[in-house]
Amino acid sequence: MTIDTTPLNEIITARIAARGRITFAEFMAACLYEPGLGYYTSAGRKVGAEGDFYTSITVHAAFGRVLAREMAQMWRSMGCPTGFTLVECGAGNGRLACDIMDYLAEREEQMYGALQLVLVEQEPSLESAQRDMLAAHISRLSWLSPDEFASGRFTFSGCLYSNELIDALPVQRVVMTSEGLKEIYVVCMDGAFSEETGELSTPELEAYLLRIGVVLHPAQQAEINLNAPKWLASAATALQQGFILTIDYGYTAAELYTPRRKLGTLLCYYRHQTEENPYLRLGLQDITTHVDFTTLMACGESIGLKNVWFGEQYRFLMSAGIVEEIEEIERSDVSDEEKLRLRLTLKKLILPDGGMGDTFRVLIQSAGVAAPTLLCQRRIGG
Ligand SMILES: C[S@@+](CC[C@H](N)C(=O)[O-])C[C@H]1O[C@@H](n2cnc3c(N)ncnc32)[C@H](O)[C@@H]1O
Repeated sequence: MTIDTTPLNEIITARIAARGRITFAEFMAACLYEPGLGYYTSAGRKVGAEGDFYTSITVHAAFGRVLAREMAQMWRSMGCPTGFTLVECGAGNGRLACDIMDYLAEREEQMYGALQLVLVEQEPSLESAQRDMLAAHISRLSWLSPDEFASGRFTFSGCLYSNELIDALPVQRVVMTSEGLKEIYVVCMDGAFSEETGELSTPELEAYLLRIGVVLHPAQQAEINLNAPKWLASAATALQQGFILTIDYGYTAAELYTPRRKLGTLLCYYRHQTEENPYLRLGLQDITTHVDFTTLMACGESIGLKNVWFGEQYRFLMSAGIVEEIEEIERSDVSDEEKLRLRLTLKKLILPDGGMGDTFRVLIQSAGVAAPTLLCQRRIGG
C-alpha cells in the first residue's frame, strides 16, 4: 500500500514498532483525533463546499428547524417543564445548534425560556467558532469535553442529539477465516502500512456479533464499533428524563452485515472524492463507517431506554415538518428564482434511492417519558 507522508506516518509507525501491530481502531483514532494532527483535530475546513464532504446541516437551515419542531414536541410530551437541556455531541462549528436555537427563540418563546444548550466536541478549539455562531444565545450556552460528558457526573433532562457523530468513532475490523473470526491489525512493512490478521484483541468483538445474531460468511470483512454502545451507555447515564436523537448513515445489522458487503463499509473522503484506502493522506482525509442501528437499539433497551422511532431521514423530515418549512419558503417574499433554488436544495435532504433521504437514518430513544407523541410518528401527509 502506498502512503503520502504526513507527520502522522512517523507517529503511527513508531507505535507499531513499539508493539508489533495496532488495532484498526487505534490507527483510525490517530488519523482522526491525534491532537493537532488528526483530521478533526487540526485546522482546516472539513464540512461544506470548501471541505471534504457535506452533511445535512450544510445543505439548509430547514434541517435544524425541523429538528427544533420535534424538540418542541418532546418538551410538550414531557409536560412543558421549566428546565429543558439540549445537548449536542459532535457539535462541529455549532451550525446545527444555531439553526435549532434560532427556530426555538423565534417560534417557541415559552420553551426557549426554559432552555439550556450544552455542546460536547472532541476538538476543543472549535469552541470559539461555536461561541461566534451562537452569539445570540450565549447566555444559555455551556461546554463539556467528551470525558466530562462520560464521567457520570453530568446529568440532564431534555434532548441529546447528534448528527454524524457515531460514523466518526474509531472501529475495529474483523474477518471470518477458516479458523474462525479474526481481527485485522495494522502493521508496517518496509515503510508502508499493511494489514495482518490475528487473534481478537478483545472477546467483546465476538460477543458483539453474537448479540445481534450475525455470523459472517467465509472471507467476509466487517467493522465493529465498540465505541458506539459505550457512548450510548454514557448518554443514557447522563439522561435523567427525555430523549436521545441520533442521525447518521447506517443500517440495521441485517443490512449492514449482509454477505453482499464483503469488505464492510469503511470509506474515506477527501475534497468530495471517496477513497477506499485509509492508509493515504493520514490526518488529511476523513475515515468513516456506517452505523449499526440494531446494536444502538438493543443496547439502549438493555440499559433502560425505549425505542420510540427509527426510520429513514426522509420519512422523519416529511412527518416532522419539512413540508411546513417548504410552504413557509413559498409564502416568503424571496424571488421565484430563489424559491426554486431552495426547493431543489431541500430535495437533497429527502431524496430516497441512495440520496441523503434514505442513506441517513434517524433513531429516537427515550427515558422516563410515558408514551410520547412525536411529530415523526404522524403519517406522512397526515
Ligand atoms: C462528521 S463530524 C460531524 C459534525 C457535525 N455534527 C455535522 O454534522 O456537520 C463528527 C464530529 O464529532 C466530533 N467527535 C468525535 N468524537 C466525539 C465525542 N466522543 N464526543 C463529541 N464529539 C466528538 C468530531 O470532532 C467532529 O467534529
